[in-house]
Amino acid sequence: MKILSIETSCDETACAIVEDGRKVLSNIIASQIDLHAITGGVVPEVAAREHVLKMIPVLDECLGKFSWDDIDALAVTQGPGLISSLIIGTQTANVISYVKGIPLIPVQHIVGHVYSNWLDCEEEIEFPVLILTVSGGHNELILMKDHHNFEVLGETRDDAAGEAFDKVARILGLGYPGGPAISKLSVEGFSEAYNFPRSYLEKGSFDFSFSGLKTSVLHEVMKGDVVAADVAASFQEAVCDVLSKKLLMAFEKYNPKEVHLAGGVSANLRLRELVIERLGHKVKVRHPSSIKYCTDNAAMIGSAAYYLWEQNPSKFTASSNFIPYSSFEI
Ligand code: KG4
Ligand code: ZN
Repeated sequence: MKILSIETSCDETACAIVEDGRKVLSNIIASQIDLHAITGGVVPEVAAREHVLKMIPVLDECLGKFSWDDIDALAVTQGPGLISSLIIGTQTANVISYVKGIPLIPVQHIVGHVYSNWLDCEEEIEFPVLILTVSGGHNELILMKDHHNFEVLGETRDDAAGEAFDKVARILGLGYPGGPAISKLSVEGFSEAYNFPRSYLEKGSFDFSFSGLKTSVLHEVMKGDVVAADVAASFQEAVCDVLSKKLLMAFEKYNPKEVHLAGGVSANLRLRELVIERLGHKVKVRHPSSIKYCTDNAAMIGSAAYYLWEQNPSKFTASSNFIPYSSFEI
């Protein structure tokens, strides 16, 4: 079954064609990074206007040698995300569904990230799976008992890890997006140079908090005379230390068959290294097979949609039922 999917929740205009939830046949991503680098972050109105310009060219390029007759279903990110960005994707999907008579499957964005580990993966994935989704906008620890059967064990109480990376990069004048810049600079730095705070919250909690760490970095930099590479490396170490320890705690409590990393921050090599060091000898650890599946993409939405459809094919019909954007929870 071939699903054509659309993702426009933030600043990536993306379309993909995925077969049977795993095989990526086409994957086009128009990034707006250069545009948002000028303002040091995403301005929603600017992002939405760019989606309007890129949506049809990206769709055309994605379809490539395929025709609409090859497409069995459509999928779209319904939310959460920037409302003005989501509208462009959902409206486009609704119109194609209506005009071409192709069923449309709405997908929750974080559930999409969860399914990024299924993309181009030829091995059988065994449940239950413990998943750490770490992005710019979200940070969750999820126990996945079966397809689309989730228990959210913990989430961020303030900033997501990626948000903290972006803000600290801004404090250090490294530009946007901050994650890759911090991770690159950290290679030259000493990670024990600054003892930045690690917040574990109450005993046994799987929630996260990174705003105190961010403020602590700001205070240190304001004192002046800091070595930027050392600040970057020490900050990165503090984030990855907390993320990997919480993951280990959850693993010990729930004993899953696999542990997955997902979302933009799962591209971080130090995070991957620490997770392998702490859990790799106990359980199968996966991260998305390519960096382009860590950050926002439409292929993950197509994968999540396939497993939704598989559970209840008759639920999804060509849209006389219009799908609006919506910020629903997992
Ligand atoms: O998943 P994503 O593309 O968007 C959201 O759904 O939020 O994640 C983007 C986030 C940004 O905050 C970016 O700085 C972070 O992922 N990121 C990284 C790395 N690459 C991207 N953070 C740390 N290390 C990286 N290598
Ligand atoms: Zn995302």
